[in-house]
Amino acid sequence: MSNSSDSEQGTQERKKPNILITGTPGTGKTTLSQLASESTDLFHINVGELVKEKSLHQGFDHEFQSWILDDDKLVDELEETLSNGGNIVDFHSCEVFPERWFDLVLVLRTDNTILFDRLKDRGYSQKKITENIDSEIFQVILEEARESYPAEIVVELRSNTIEDMQSNVTRIEEWVEAWN
Ligand SMILES: Nc1ncnc2c1ncn2[C@@H]1O[C@H](COP(=O)(O)OP(=O)(O)O)[C@@H](O)[C@H]1O
Ligand SMILES: [Mg+2]
Repeated sequence: MSNSSDSEQGTQERKKPNILITGTPGTGKTTLSQLASESTDLFHINVGELVKEKSLHQGFDHEFQSWILDDDKLVDELEETLSNGGNIVDFHSCEVFPERWFDLVLVLRTDNTILFDRLKDRGYSQKKITENIDSEIFQVILEEARESYPAEIVVELRSNTIEDMQSNVTRIEEWVEAWN
């Protein structure tokens, strides 16, 4: 599926917005997506889970301990749902999705020491922890988002504490209200 061919079908067709919540693993995407989904009535799509469930991958990469994403299968799987609007898409990468899908792109950011503890609690290997901490330090996902989407829809959100989480939920609620 081409990412550019139908860029003219903009947001006009959507009655409800689509939000992408992205960031390094452990920054709180799934937790925030669940909370925001409950209070805004948008549908939460956990892309990592979907990739596993529907085998939208090309096998498991043992070196990196992760599934090798099949970009085309993933975009095809989500196309209809996203065209209809009303979704919160939760994924640790963002360049795979067509630009036209999203009205808002949130990039969660977490301080290193806090992120380290969360990934350790998750049972990640030292290698995987280091990779993710480095990625967060070098703002890999933020840069990816800025390269993939218009600057005015990309917003960086701190996600260190429960208070941050609550204020992020409120921010999403207010944004959705204003969009509607
Ligand atoms: N803002 C936050 N403050 C405190 N704990 C958080 C925050 N965001 C997430 N967590 C915790 O960190 C862990 C990872 O969160 P999760 O939502 O699974 O991250 P992700 O989906 O980005 O990998 C969970 O235990 C969650 O409760
Ligand atoms: Mg998650």
